[in-house]
Amino acid sequence: MDLFAGLIHSNGNVWKQHRRFCLRHLKDFGFGKSSLDSLILQEFESMMDSVFVSAEKRGRSIIAVLDENLNAAVTNVIWWLLACKVTAQDQEFVDILRVIQVRIDFTILNLLSLFPGLNIFDPPSRFLRFPSLEQKRDYFYAYMQVREILYLIEFHLVFGLSIDSFTQKILQEHRETLDAESPRDLIDCFLVEQKKWQSFQDKEKNYISDEMIEATLVDLFTAGAETTSTTLRWIVLILIQNPAIMRKVCDEVDAVVGTARLPCSSDADHVQTLEKWLKQAKLKCPALSMHYTVATIWEVWRYITVVPFGLNRQVSQDMDIGGYRVPKGTIIITSILSMHQDSKSFENPHEFRPERFLDAEGNLMKNIPRIMPFQSGKRQCLGESLARRTTFLGLTYLLQNNTFEMVPGEVYDLEPKQESQILNLPKQFKVMITARHS
Ligand code: HEM
Repeated sequence: MDLFAGLIHSNGNVWKQHRRFCLRHLKDFGFGKSSLDSLILQEFESMMDSVFVSAEKRGRSIIAVLDENLNAAVTNVIWWLLACKVTAQDQEFVDILRVIQVRIDFTILNLLSLFPGLNIFDPPSRFLRFPSLEQKRDYFYAYMQVREILYLIEFHLVFGLSIDSFTQKILQEHRETLDAESPRDLIDCFLVEQKKWQSFQDKEKNYISDEMIEATLVDLFTAGAETTSTTLRWIVLILIQNPAIMRKVCDEVDAVVGTARLPCSSDADHVQTLEKWLKQAKLKCPALSMHYTVATIWEVWRYITVVPFGLNRQVSQDMDIGGYRVPKGTIIITSILSMHQDSKSFENPHEFRPERFLDAEGNLMKNIPRIMPFQSGKRQCLGESLARRTTFLGLTYLLQNNTFEMVPGEVYDLEPKQESQILNLPKQFKVMITARHS
């Protein structure tokens, strides 16, 4: 598989056309739209059903680890858009999810940490030893370069091989059942486009190869699944350790959604919609909304920074940034983590406090202070709208139907797992879940 053919690692025109193509067609299948709400909720519902069946029972409650099941729920939604097939029960698919998890948990960099003598790229300990800011910066820069190179090698060796046969099989199945007049999913759209260019002379320029399709599928579900489910795991872990915040979110879910219906994504911008309508009717807007829940999600994205660093990107032309001359070709790495922990933007940044995003009336601030969990600019996350929707619906659904508490005797903290270099992952934890309405 050519890794540079997909969305994440491609550049220039190939990337531009590819990104535009994916966004346009994913939207046709509900990406970023409320029509996807029912599918997302259905996934969380069946996830909780299977958790209740399989987890250890304790009286009316269960003790569960929300790991693979949460990952599968999120991946199924993405996979439905790509391949029109929900495959949580498909053993091959479950194996692929495991490979993704292992890859994220255990990188070549972690292997190096087993041999301290060889480990010249252990950022936390080395970083602090350099006295000057310049040395720290140069070290960090070198570290990120090596991280990227190892990541690519490893991806080909470990991940690429195991997933190749899976994506090829799916592609073949789609090819055999394709109806060009009514594409079912993103793969069909790619195949229709591929066929179109096959009959043209200049196909070299625009032809979509099987490799490109496979690389895009891999990019979309590796970038989308673990990031979103990690967010939800952090939310649960943080909330069980902060019962007062949990109570406020639950109260809001009860007040706005209640029990008579399922949550929907418009609950998140309930007030905006209502406000617009009321403004037209020249009435005053009542304080009914899910601002606190949304603020809590934003605070998790700030406090944890699930993706701490952006990928290595090259500057395409000479430019000035903050008074520094940055020549064409320079590699830029964004430290999203530093921005989220900057005390100039966030008072007491190491404190978890959703209120920092709310105004005096408890409404979400119009201009949220500098937070960019999805990066910003042209390479901003392609799946942001889906990630926001899934996180909001997942959280509200879980709290509408269950209470989550710490398991007595278990030890909890908010330190991320040290092993992962790509995502800030929580350590595995158990949670006590009790159904609210049985
Ligand atoms: C909470 C969830 C998510 C977070 C925190 C997140 C974060 C990010 C970040 C920081 C980047 C920029 C990396 C860089 O170039 O520096 C990115 C890129 C990307 N994300 Fe996400 N993401 C999330 C969910 C998703 C989902 C659900 C999808 C798709 C289904 C997705 C697909 C992508 C793709 C394709 C790119 C590369 C975009 C490009 O280079 O044009 N992400 N994401």
